[in-house]
Amino acid sequence: MSELSVDHLLGIKYITKEDVDLIFKTADHFKEVINRPIKKVPSLRDITIANLFFENSTRTRLSFELAEKRLSADVVNFSAASSSVKKGETLIDTVNNILSMKVDMVVMRHPNPGAGVFLSQHVNASIVNAGDGAHEHPTQALLDSYSIRERLGEVTGKNIVIVGDILHSRVALSNIFALKLQGANVKVCGPKTLIPKHIEKLGVEVETNLRKALEWCDVANMLRVQNERMDISYFPSTREYVQQFGLTKDILDSLNKEITIMHPGPINRGVEITSEVADSDHAIILDQVQNGVAVRMAVIYLLASKIKQ
Ligand code: NCD
Repeated sequence: MSELSVDHLLGIKYITKEDVDLIFKTADHFKEVINRPIKKVPSLRDITIANLFFENSTRTRLSFELAEKRLSADVVNFSAASSSVKKGETLIDTVNNILSMKVDMVVMRHPNPGAGVFLSQHVNASIVNAGDGAHEHPTQALLDSYSIRERLGEVTGKNIVIVGDILHSRVALSNIFALKLQGANVKVCGPKTLIPKHIEKLGVEVETNLRKALEWCDVANMLRVQNERMDISYFPSTREYVQQFGLTKDILDSLNKEITIMHPGPINRGVEITSEVADSDHAIILDQVQNGVAVRMAVIYLLASKIKQ
């Protein structure tokens, strides 16, 4: 297969295993490109991309921008804090105004779940979801699986535990879809209050004991507690959370095997993971960031090649 089955990347839910394989194969090529002295290819010289960020972001925004620039696309950036959204403009009006300046692709982060799907139905551009509320964050899940494949050879058959605030995490949901699509075994672990009801229906198991989860897994993906999405208290105190779900060197040393540690960032050092663990050889956190650029180049390149036809 040489083209994606979709015209937009709105969520992992909408793509196939063949799409994932094609994205990874393309990312392998771009990873080689970005390690060359000249890190740029002219592939998207005639494509203009708008990065619309209605929610805070550091690494995802920079990663998309670098990916676009390394493909030689023209790039415009927009963040809600400095835009007319504050003056009451609707999302469709904002985006249509930008598109009338001949923009071909929109990368959007938005606090509302489904914002990307909505936009793809109303505007004429290829849409990439860079995180829609607590719903999906497809490129993060792709770069996470790509990093597992790089470290362990393959994703199929591996035991992966996702630890922390599953309820508010778009990274968790997209990862569950992506990992299941590739035939991994998935558990989620965290306080009961932060695990969505009926999550087993997605084919994952729930484990509320961190030690047991770690003894089972090959990879632990540690998520941040999303305080900004909580309107009530989901656990008694941060101290108690750390005692039960914080990943420390002591726990890792007490396991009789080595596991791979991941984190999408931003890290709350000393909460979900200690600095010692985050900076250790077990952690592939910076590999994830590096792979993010290659994976996003692959996604943008493959979607852009569908626009040109
Ligand atoms: C995540 C996000 O924004 O969804 N971060 C990221 O994209 N690298 C996770 C988080 O904010 O905790």
